[in-house]
Amino acid sequence: MERISDVLIDEERIAKRVEELGRQIEQDYAGKAPVVVAILKGSIIFYGDLVRKIDLPIKFDTMAVSSYGSGTSSSGNVKIKKDLTNDICGEDVLIIEDIIDSGNTMKALTSLLAHRGAKSINVCAFLDKPSRRTVDFEADYVGYKIPNEFVVGYGLDYDEKYRNLPYIAILELTD
Ligand code: IMP
Ligand code: MG
Repeated sequence: MERISDVLIDEERIAKRVEELGRQIEQDYAGKAPVVVAILKGSIIFYGDLVRKIDLPIKFDTMAVSSYGSGTSSSGNVKIKKDLTNDICGEDVLIIEDIIDSGNTMKALTSLLAHRGAKSINVCAFLDKPSRRTVDFEADYVGYKIPNEFVVGYGLDYDEKYRNLPYIAILELTD
C-alpha cells in the first residue's frame, strides 16, 4: 500500500522553474535547431510544458529506455524499448528526463547517442537526487535538486499511477 504524504513542489513553483529553464535553453541554443528528445513516459508532461517556453525551431523525438543498472559507461548498458525516429548524426541533441537517480540511465544513454555521432548532447532533468548517485553523471540543466524521497506526479509514477498529478508529491509506502 502507498499514500501521498506531502506536496514537495506545487504547480506554481513548477511553472516558474520551467519558464526559467526554457529561457536558459533558448539562450544557450540561440541560432541552433536542436532535436529535443522526450524520455518516455516520465518526461511527457515536463516536455510539453518546457518546449512551449523555448522559442527556437526545435525538432521533436522520443525514446523509451531502461537501464540495466551496471555502473560502467559502455553503450551496452541501456535497453532501448523505443528508439528515436530520426538519425541524430550531426545533430545538437537535448534529452529531457524526469529525474536523475543513480545516474545509470542517462550516463549510458548519453554515451550511446555520442557513439551514434550526435554533434552535441545535453541533458535537462526536472528533478535530481544527487545523494543517490552511483555513477559519475551530472545533468546540464536541473529543475530542482531534491532529497532522497520517492516522488510522484508531473509525469513520475509509482507502478504507472500518479503521473497526472499536477504537482510533485512524496509517496509514502505503508503495509
Ligand atoms: P537512474 O538515474 O538510472 O537510477 O534512473 C532514473 C529513473 O528511475 C527515472 O527516469 C525514473 O523512471 C526512475 N525514478 C527514480 N527515482 C524516482 C522517483 O522518486 N519517483 C519515480 N521514478 C523514479
Ligand atoms: Mg524514467
